[in-house]
Amino acid sequence: MAKVKITDTTMRDAHQSLLATRMKSEHLIPIAEKHDNVGFYSMEVWGGATFDTCMRFCGDDPWERLKVLRRHLKKTKTQMLLRGQNVVGYRNYADDVLIEFIKKAVANGMDIFRTFDALNDYRNINVAVKTVIDEGAHAQGTICYAISPVHTVEYYVKLAKELETMGCQSICIKDMAGMITPYITYDIVKSIRDAGITLPIQLHCHYTSGMAAMAYMKGIEAGADIIDCAISSMSNQTSQPAIETMLSTFKGTEYDTGLDLALLTEINKYWETVRPQYAEFDLAQKYPDANILVSQVPGGMMSNFLSQLKQANALHRLPEVMEEMTRVQEDFGWPPLVTPSSQIIGSQAVLNVLMGRYKMCTKEVKQYIRGYYGRPPASINEEARKMIIGDEKPIDCRPADMLEPELAKAKELVAPVMEKEEDIISAAIYPQVAPKFLEERMAKKINVDIELAKQGSGFYPV
Ligand code: CO
Repeated sequence: MAKVKITDTTMRDAHQSLLATRMKSEHLIPIAEKHDNVGFYSMEVWGGATFDTCMRFCGDDPWERLKVLRRHLKKTKTQMLLRGQNVVGYRNYADDVLIEFIKKAVANGMDIFRTFDALNDYRNINVAVKTVIDEGAHAQGTICYAISPVHTVEYYVKLAKELETMGCQSICIKDMAGMITPYITYDIVKSIRDAGITLPIQLHCHYTSGMAAMAYMKGIEAGADIIDCAISSMSNQTSQPAIETMLSTFKGTEYDTGLDLALLTEINKYWETVRPQYAEFDLAQKYPDANILVSQVPGGMMSNFLSQLKQANALHRLPEVMEEMTRVQEDFGWPPLVTPSSQIIGSQAVLNVLMGRYKMCTKEVKQYIRGYYGRPPASINEEARKMIIGDEKPIDCRPADMLEPELAKAKELVAPVMEKEEDIISAAIYPQVAPKFLEERMAKKINVDIELAKQGSGFYPV
């Protein structure tokens, strides 16, 4: 029986989930070599929101971060979260941006690309997956877990088959809201295995409701191979389960991870001193969020409801909004409630309650109904469509097919402050944030605390 493999998410998802993605390179680099010695399957160190926050808040070049971490991670594969056609941003980008991004990420040392689409519309990850494979890196396809009448075990098996056919080298089951139960995890993994799919299965769960560690255990028993965990002082709450907990759970069994608990304890001492330095961002609830088990609404969405209703002086209408949300979800073809569909559904539900059903619609809702985000799991309600976009005909092609190439324009934009080709990609994805960051970089050269980053390594800067 294969040992359980662990992906260490401490340097990406853990601080994205707990500390508003504010961790700076100077805190990642000094401990990187110790992480490298643990024997993780991979370390998730890049992508997701880190690309944006690096430039926007940390004065930290994301490409430089990858390059330097790569030099420390001699034995361990690096991993990133890629938002399919959204790359590491929040809208669809043209293929030239996506392809060049992947090429440069591989060139700077990225090994595993976990690629997802919020709607599980795989037309939106197809080009990414193909490019990753062409570049000789590992393409992991993702199934976003959601709770709805169309998100059945059979549906997930169908998605797994699509990912296999596309050429993905492994499959991730991604429970971003932290709502998957241990037994549902078991059923999904077992059914994928029963369908004859032998690709490695990786579980990505958030601890939010308190079930993630149990979900991992049942998922492993059903035939999953890899679990995402974070070092204990950066774990649980809205982050991943603790590495040390899962290591001890499987110790001495056929699933033994083979990792060294003493080394992890040593590493954890470091993180115990780093986390308090980000206290101003450390706002996650200290105990499991049982409310989401009742409402099945992700935590971020609920706080948006509350603030929008408060602004309208209508907090007492929350129960109506909750009911309306389910109706909008159904009208919109049951999209998983993850960025950006959670915002789209949530704000429309509030508008429907306050102004009347589809009397007023956001720009994003219209674009969603026109098909510009992709194809939802179920079809969109005809009546709702008419109320929102009238007789307009939605597109039925891949949304990115509607986009013109974007790199040439970005090159122009960034020319005065460009130092390397990667800067063009930064500017293509973040045309407001990147040029400003690059100007600052030019003036000050580098914004990370080099002395701090040098500790124990001497690697930073080049
Ligand atoms: Co996550």
